[in-house]
Amino acid sequence: MSPVDGSTAAVESREAAYLVPTYSRTAFHPRTGRGARLFDADGKRYWDLLAGIAVNALGYSHPRITRILRSEARGLLHVSNLFYHPCQGLLAERLIEASGLSHAFFCNSGTEANEAAIKFARLANPGRPEIIALEESFHGRTMGALSVTGHEEYRVPFGPLLPGVTFVPPNDHTALERTVSEDTAAIIVEPILGEGGVIPLSDDYLRAARRLADRSGAVLIFDEIQCGLGRTGTLFAFQGVGVTPDIVTLAKPLGGGLPLGAVIVGPKLDGSIKPGHHGTTFGGNVLACRLGLAVLEEIDSSHLLERVKGLGAWLETQLRRIQRTVPAIIDIRGRGLMWGIELNRDAKAVALELLSRGYVVGTARQNVLRLLPPYIVPKSALAAFLTVLVDVLTGEKEES
Ligand SMILES: Cc1ncc(COP(=O)(O)O)c(C=O)c1O
Repeated sequence: MSPVDGSTAAVESREAAYLVPTYSRTAFHPRTGRGARLFDADGKRYWDLLAGIAVNALGYSHPRITRILRSEARGLLHVSNLFYHPCQGLLAERLIEASGLSHAFFCNSGTEANEAAIKFARLANPGRPEIIALEESFHGRTMGALSVTGHEEYRVPFGPLLPGVTFVPPNDHTALERTVSEDTAAIIVEPILGEGGVIPLSDDYLRAARRLADRSGAVLIFDEIQCGLGRTGTLFAFQGVGVTPDIVTLAKPLGGGLPLGAVIVGPKLDGSIKPGHHGTTFGGNVLACRLGLAVLEEIDSSHLLERVKGLGAWLETQLRRIQRTVPAIIDIRGRGLMWGIELNRDAKAVALELLSRGYVVGTARQNVLRLLPPYIVPKSALAAFLTVLVDVLTGEKEES
């Protein structure tokens, strides 16, 4: 029997018996999808406003992606990094042309991208013992990325972690200025903190980080794993701010649904990374890179950045409008198609209620609903969602 044929009860009990219990999954069984729609095991349909946590930027069953999967199935899926294939260089070329940085390294996930970024920063700044990161940040679960993750509860069970990491509050210029020194190897920030509750860093703060990195010689790393590749309306989030980092890390939407991460480095790193310093068996494999090229081509040819910008501006206006009339909404934060709706109540319970009404949304921290819809989500789906959200939060139908 193919695993996708399992009944929902069988799927759940098999996992309970055999999987290491690292996840507390929601009892939701998506089985197929088309565009921004998901269909569960009973055939019930949903609007997906989470996109597999910012991965499925093009939605489901996108013709450009399925065409490539079909044609590449006959080719080599993997050749290792001992040998050449055409797609890594092509994808690197596209990313370098688009970012204005100088070289790319490919890996398999966000945490691996940050792991490599930390190693590269150490190579560029040998002997400097300190890294500065933000409270509430999230950079991944492997030991290096975890060491710079600002959620104490994620770190504590796994100590001792990397020494020399100092956490400062987001958007606090004075704390950053006080902490950066000539011992600082790197400053790592998410331009919009995702897991931390969708907290955008101000343009001024990012400019100050750039200035302080320049003054001290620290490597400035932007983790754009969640907010990058078009989600804020520019291909790189840093392009909307006008601050260029020394390293950008990418993952989630890059592989079109397959695991693919990238570290893009600027001239400050030139000459410091040599053969043997870092590597991976799978990273940048043929199929993932081919899909990465397709994702970039689709963003370009379907003008998805303009779409995200326009739809994002409309969504912001609508969210601020409902905030004025719904007391349960404390704050609205975000940009483009990345929004946090801070509530005066537990967000998970609200997300479950929305799921039962046909909308898949995420949460962040205790009380923030998180929206990360595919870039192709119809405006009408977002409008329908807002009506249901008001209903769920007030128990009343919204007047239009
Ligand atoms: C900003 C950010 N960095 C890093 C990661 C880790 O990525 P991955 O889960 O692919 O290892 C995530 C995942 O949510 C993220 O949002």
